[in-house]
Amino acid sequence: MKVSWQLGNGRHLMPVTRTRPTARLPKWIIILLCLVFVYLISAYVHPPRWYAEDWMPPVARELSDEELVAHVVFRNILSMPLRQPKNPKIAFMFLTPGPLPLERLWEKFFQVLWGKISMVEAEKRLLAYALQDPDNQHFVLLSDSCIPLHDFDYVYKYLMGTNVSFIDNFFDPGPHGNGRYSEHMMPEIEHRDFKKGSQWFSMKRQHALIMMADNLYFTKFRFYCKPGFEGHNCYSYEHYLPTLFTMFDPTGIANWSLTHVDWSEGKWHPKSYLAKEVTYGLLKKLRSIDETFHVTSDEKKVETRKPCLWNGTRRPCHLFARRFLPEALNKLMHLFPNYTAI
Ligand SMILES: *[C@@H]1O[C@H](CO)[C@@H](O)[C@H](O)[C@H]1NC(C)=O
Ligand SMILES: *[C@@H]1O[C@H](CO)[C@@H](O)[C@H](O)[C@H]1NC(C)=O
Ligand SMILES: *[C@@H]1O[C@H](CO)[C@@H](O)[C@H](O)[C@H]1NC(C)=O
Ligand SMILES: *[C@@H]1O[C@H](CO)[C@@H](O)[C@H](O)[C@H]1NC(C)=O
Repeated sequence: MKVSWQLGNGRHLMPVTRTRPTARLPKWIIILLCLVFVYLISAYVHPPRWYAEDWMPPVARELSDEELVAHVVFRNILSMPLRQPKNPKIAFMFLTPGPLPLERLWEKFFQVLWGKISMVEAEKRLLAYALQDPDNQHFVLLSDSCIPLHDFDYVYKYLMGTNVSFIDNFFDPGPHGNGRYSEHMMPEIEHRDFKKGSQWFSMKRQHALIMMADNLYFTKFRFYCKPGFEGHNCYSYEHYLPTLFTMFDPTGIANWSLTHVDWSEGKWHPKSYLAKEVTYGLLKKLRSIDETFHVTSDEKKVETRKPCLWNGTRRPCHLFARRFLPEALNKLMHLFPNYTAI
């Protein structure tokens, strides 16, 4: 398999399995606009069933023009028949401030050498880029401290065998959850819609398109969910995707992240693993986790555990883990063939 990188000038890296430099962003915008156009005509001639049933949110208010457009475009994307590429692929997108310290481990995972390195500006930009390859069916966001917990084959089958996005999502009534909500998000985003989850997603193609198409909800977060706004620190990257997708496709997301991270120390940052902590036992333990864990940030600290159900059967939750320090690289290189062979 060949992996190459594209060169940009932002903070981020993106390897894609194959690059298609010719296609440009406006093409799919045109396609989306066409969808809206086609929809309007067909709705007029022959109103689809869901028109009356389930496409309106359960609120007794009139949608603004912008909301109406968002609802129509998102619904259309979700109901689009899936093209089955002969060679379906996964885009692995690395969000990192610089070079990839664990690069050699990832080379082992892909069993290739990296090509040119890509630096693009943001998650949306990363996705837009990866979407240009029509063969890419899943889009995985990873950080520079992530490691693979399984081999490529396992990861490929795990992702290709499911039709959901792995977007972490839970309702946290506490100060680090809905305490960050701003009334300015009304009326489009109500208090009960505001969700929380880790930013490290794996997204199916339709959801990536929705994220591209969305300007309305994204703008609400950009303006009203930011550090220091109205006396609290809101971080869009922890709220935007879980909120957007529970509003529009709640059963299309798994509600957990494929990337394991250990918050059990209760600090501002999750645990970082030093070389000496990286053992066969640790990796085996991370691979064996098969239930999700969420805890609310209020005094009650309500814990929720749910089995990770993959196509209805209980499976390991995580394909990746963070945060591993660069000094752990040699140890990981040594252990990789063993822990992925369990
Ligand atoms: C998902 O489950 C169904 C029913 O149990 C089964 O027929 C199908 O093969 C499974 N899909 C995969 C990819 O394992
Ligand atoms: C996903 O696949 C399951 C069966 O594996 C099916 O019941 C479900 O309707 C599918 N969901 C979507 C959104 O296609
Ligand atoms: C994910 O959570 C939402 C509520 O936020 C729920 O409606 C949905 O059924 C959950 N998805 C799965 C796959 O359990
Ligand atoms: C990995 O497995 C090989 C062969 O099974 C064994 O010789 C080696 O000691 C193992 N390495 C570690 C670090 O467990």
